[in-house]
Amino acid sequence: MRVMERTFRQQLFFLLLCLSVLKGDCRYIENNDISKDELFSLLSSDLRREIPELLMYRRPLRCLDMVAVEGQFTFTAETPQLSCAAFFMAEPNELITVEFDSVDVDCSGGDFVTMFDGWVMKGEKFPSSQDHPLPLYERYVNYCDSGAARKSMRSSQNVAMVFFRVHGAGSSFALTVRKHVNPFPCNVISQSPEGSYTMVTPQQHRNCSFSIIYPVAIDISEFSLGHHSNFPKRSLPGCAESGDYVQLLGGSGIDTSKLLPITDLCISFTGPTHMKIGCDNTVVRMVSSGRFVSRVSFSYRPLDSQELQTIKLNNVEDFCFNN
Ligand SMILES: *[C@@H]1O[C@H](CO)[C@@H](O)[C@H](O)[C@H]1NC(C)=O
Repeated sequence: MRVMERTFRQQLFFLLLCLSVLKGDCRYIENNDISKDELFSLLSSDLRREIPELLMYRRPLRCLDMVAVEGQFTFTAETPQLSCAAFFMAEPNELITVEFDSVDVDCSGGDFVTMFDGWVMKGEKFPSSQDHPLPLYERYVNYCDSGAARKSMRSSQNVAMVFFRVHGAGSSFALTVRKHVNPFPCNVISQSPEGSYTMVTPQQHRNCSFSIIYPVAIDISEFSLGHHSNFPKRSLPGCAESGDYVQLLGGSGIDTSKLLPITDLCISFTGPTHMKIGCDNTVVRMVSSGRFVSRVSFSYRPLDSQELQTIKLNNVEDFCFNN
């Protein structure tokens, strides 16, 4: 039953992702039949240690693809493929390494295979340049530019991608994707339209975002935010002066710095904690001063078509939420 549910959620995820973000080409996106975790739960621990290499999940990579499991993925061009992208994702508390095993492309003829620390969709990046610890140029690793010197990349969050262009039939490359535990997750894209999460920012001067790329109903169940002891409790309208605070953002792209603010939560917050947000992307963002340990917990579920309809009808302006 759990397996069925999960499979269904994954299918739903791929479908929704196609519809809302990639706009078409759904036929290229497929589900990764069985995950290694599910397979492993059937095996003894002795056997488990020996199996990883032998049993590594392997399959061909498609020109537009989504990968949520570890394994080895091989792309072979049959015709020129000029604009391809593979999106990788893991659990919120994981990060991803991508390693080139073999690359046979014509770098001097304009081919490239480039890894990116994050996702790029419709020209926007996640995490946004503001929220990512590395400067933008360090987030790209182009196999051709690096003279094959850098053969792997470790992502800073639970998503990564590879984009590539190959002209010659028969050109190919293979890469291995692995997941690792990330003890301090900061920026996250949710793997599914339903779940719950607690975001904790350690004492770091760094903002963190949790992004849900579906229209959702979201419930902020608890927050504990560090604040300046002299903050006057009810005098100021916004949160900016208070210390750490939480922003709820919405919009249609994945760059959090381009989303519109829905509401801010800080110690003086008294508004609703349950909201229906009809945006393609909903983000919970912790703005951290670096002086406190702050935490926010929330749960979310997808909006059904009737709820979405209601939001559309109620909105005179072109914005995607109501209370
Ligand atoms: C965090 O976000 C706030 C508000 O968007 C911004 O003013 C601040 O510079 C950001 N902090 C860091 C470290 O990027």
